[in-house]
Amino acid sequence: MKVFRIVGGQALHGSVPISGAKNAALPIFAACLLTDQPCTITNVPDLSDIRFMAEILEHLGAEVTRLDANSWRICARELKCVAPYELVRQMRASICLLGPLVGRMRKARVSFPGGCVIGPRPIDLHIKGLRKLGCQVEIEGGFIVVDASELRGSPVFLGGRNGSTVTGTANMIMAAVLAPGVTVIENAAAEPEVSDLCEMLVRMGARIQGGGSHSIRIEGVSSLSGTTHSIIPDRIEAGTFLLAAAMTGGDIQLNGIIPSHNSALLDRLEAAGARPDVGVDSIRLCTDPGKLRPVDIITMPYPGFPTDLQAQMCSLMTVVDGISIITERIYPNRFMHVPELQRMGADISIEGSSAIIKGTSSLSGAPVMASDLRASAALVIAALAARGETWIQRVYHIDRGYERIDEKLRMLSVTIERLPDSEMPASIKEIA
Ligand code: EPZ
Repeated sequence: MKVFRIVGGQALHGSVPISGAKNAALPIFAACLLTDQPCTITNVPDLSDIRFMAEILEHLGAEVTRLDANSWRICARELKCVAPYELVRQMRASICLLGPLVGRMRKARVSFPGGCVIGPRPIDLHIKGLRKLGCQVEIEGGFIVVDASELRGSPVFLGGRNGSTVTGTANMIMAAVLAPGVTVIENAAAEPEVSDLCEMLVRMGARIQGGGSHSIRIEGVSSLSGTTHSIIPDRIEAGTFLLAAAMTGGDIQLNGIIPSHNSALLDRLEAAGARPDVGVDSIRLCTDPGKLRPVDIITMPYPGFPTDLQAQMCSLMTVVDGISIITERIYPNRFMHVPELQRMGADISIEGSSAIIKGTSSLSGAPVMASDLRASAALVIAALAARGETWIQRVYHIDRGYERIDEKLRMLSVTIERLPDSEMPASIKEIA
């Protein structure tokens, strides 16, 4: 396994390219199953999750060709409708296969997705939505078994106890685009990744209105054609680099992004006293963390503050003088980063679904363990700002969602090494 060795006290300087959005690419890959014609997807991030989704599509019978590091061609001329456990359990996002298999094959057999460290990942809204579309849905032997022979359009309310569901909305859209009749999804997820999926489906011939809003109307068509689609920039990667710059007192420029996708983060950075310079497709941030003020955060569905930036914001607030409260409304237990930040000297206490953070002057480097994808990114940010050296283990978690993060950090004048874990000092191995 690989580890990161990061020497702290470094500020990020320069500009860095932002990759395509993982959470747009994954449902969009699944959407290619809705047609028997070829789809070419570009600006795809080079991530292990993407390669894994490609493997699943091949298993389902699609012809998958990697054209270059960031471009793929997918053609599902033939298609099976069973997505096996040993593949699905490794990546929750494979739940997005349900919609296209139902839409195209009128039946699906997808393994119940595995749990994950950020907390329970129910799919009751996915199942409720499919049943509203006339599907028979049973859970048998660890599989979600769907008979969609009676698939038809219908009004669907997709709100749950924690708001809307992103992949649940994607699944409903992909099931409805080939369903006879009209489907109206209320309390739909409005994330940019859902808009991106809708844009591609419309180019394939789908009749969708309101993609990116909380009410999406879909008129079913009999078939869809292939298309070419470029994935939107990853707002979570962009936000992660902005928070790294803020925490290290750096000066960075992000280009080729959609600033409005980060409005909630920009609002909180400005409330903290930062002055991001926002262009048409760029953001520049030059900040001294010593001059920032603590802010309170509550994670919400888009356009609210994204849960996928919560851990990274926690890292920043640990070095901002004063007390800040970060409340997690999407995944109430999503605080795996806290014990590792405490190991670096952070003063954080958890009260229910809130982290109470008392800013300290600085953190100190320590051996830490990556866990959830975003918690791991939070540790990288903290290590860059900390005094001394930090070793981060299990960096494969980071590679799931950040394309070559160590190379990109080196583009921002940061020293970070990706080493075999055998290179870790024996003293650290004992602690870890
Ligand atoms: C997507 O997950 C993202 N993943 C997650 O990003 C992101 O954190 C999440 O949306 C919220 O923004 C992908 O897009 C692949 P949800 P998803 O269904 O769709 C509850 C990352 O780090 N819920 O929107 O699985 C659920 O418990 C990952 O990139 C139900 O109650 O999340 C949660 O509290 C992590 N019933 C809330 O809704 C359901 O049937 C939002 O979940 C489904 C969800």
